[in-house]
This record gives sequence, C-alpha cells and structure tokens, in this order.
Amino acid sequence: MKTAGGSEAAKRRAGERAAEEVEDGFVVGLGTGSTTAHAIRALGRDVEDGLEVRGIPTSFQSRQLALEVGIPLTTLDAVDGVDLAIDGADQVVDDPDAEDDGALIKGGGAAHAREKLVDAAADRFVVVADPSKLAGTLERPVPVEVVPDAHTVVADRIRAFGGEPTLREAGEKDGPVVTDNGNLVLDCAFGSIADPDGLSGSLSQIPGVLEHGLFVGLADVTYVGREDGVERRV
Ligand code: 5RP
Repeated sequence: MKTAGGSEAAKRRAGERAAEEVEDGFVVGLGTGSTTAHAIRALGRDVEDGLEVRGIPTSFQSRQLALEVGIPLTTLDAVDGVDLAIDGADQVVDDPDAEDDGALIKGGGAAHAREKLVDAAADRFVVVADPSKLAGTLERPVPVEVVPDAHTVVADRIRAFGGEPTLREAGEKDGPVVTDNGNLVLDCAFGSIADPDGLSGSLSQIPGVLEHGLFVGLADVTYVGREDGVERRV
C-alpha cells in the first residue's frame, strides 16, 4: 500500500529495523508518525515476548498506540536517562559531503516540541524514514510551534527574515491545529535552506516560539526502508 510520502512496506522495514536496536532494560523515546508506529508495534510484540522496556511517548498518538500494544510508559522527569529514541522525519539531508548531512525537518504531526525534548535527551537517536524523505537540501516548510497569543507577532518576525508563515489549519470548519501543549503551528517556507543550523538559532530566539522542527546535529543513524531492504545511514 502507498501512503502519502512513501510505501507502507518501506516504512515498516525502517521501523522494525530500528526496534531491533532496543535492548532489555532500555528507556525508549517513542516518536510520532506512521513510520515510527511500525517501530512501536514491533516493540509491543517484543514486550509480549518478555522484553522489559519503558517508553516515553512524544505525543498523544504515540502514547495511545504504546498503551494499545502493551508498552509500559514513563516520563522524562521520572528516569535517569533515555537510552534510545526512535522517530520519523519529514525531510532528511542525504549528502555525505554536506556539513548539514543528517539534518531533519520534523513536525508534520505537530509533535516536534516533545519530540525534540525526548530525541535530544536520548543517548542514541535513531531516525526512521522512507526514500521520499531524502533530499540534497532541506526545503520543506519548517513547522514552528507558537504560543497562541503570539502567532501574529511571531509571523511578522519570520517574514522579516525571509520566511512565509502559514497558520496550520485542521480543516475548513475545525479552525487551527492545536498541539498537545495547547499551542498553534506556523508552517514557515524559506525555500532551500542553505544553513539549517543558523536558521534554527534565529527561530529559537523569537519570543513566543516554543520550538521549531529543524533538528540539526541530533540524529545518530537513519534507517531508510526500501522496497527490498533497509539502508543504514550514519
Ligand atoms: C511528527 C513528525 C513525524 O515524525 C514526521 O511527520 C514523519 O511522519 P511519517 O512517518 O508519518 O511520515 O515529525 O511531528
């Protein structure tokens, strides 16, 4: 089956390969999205077979799925550390010669604030993706989570340094998307992003921005699911 952005088989291969990295006793960050969901389901099967892990979900959706498949849950403030985080991405720089190789855009599911907290806290951050996510340069709009009252002033600041922000809508009759943290999301187009690290710093400095979806220098490995196997990128 093809889903938006890649085949389900490719996503499943990537997710299941990442779940193989989980060892007995691990605290595991559970990312958000359709690719990570395959890792969560695989982990649930391992738990059924006796693996002892505790999961830290990064969204309501990953929490619900983890509960459904029987993964015991904990929170970031209740553990000494996170051994491994598994998470998806909307775009991944795939250019070994580039300084920003492995940089990510995340937040397609509006969960990037909690995802960044958990992924950055992990000793090892494993990205799961299908080939449709790979790019020479990041160019998708960057999701920026903003405090609701601040969304117009933040949008002005983003326009001032060349971005085109669009408030993410849930649907014509449903109003804006509201994150698990009660905030709004601006999807900010910057064209081709030559310096993700610099842009990351600029976005973080805007008052009213809770978190943005540029993940630079965080990923340790990316598993890219393909139709016939899994490619490991470090
Ligand atoms: C959610 C995310 C997801 O990991 C990202 O959108 C990828 O999702 P999928 O695996 O469904 O393509 O960042 O905030």
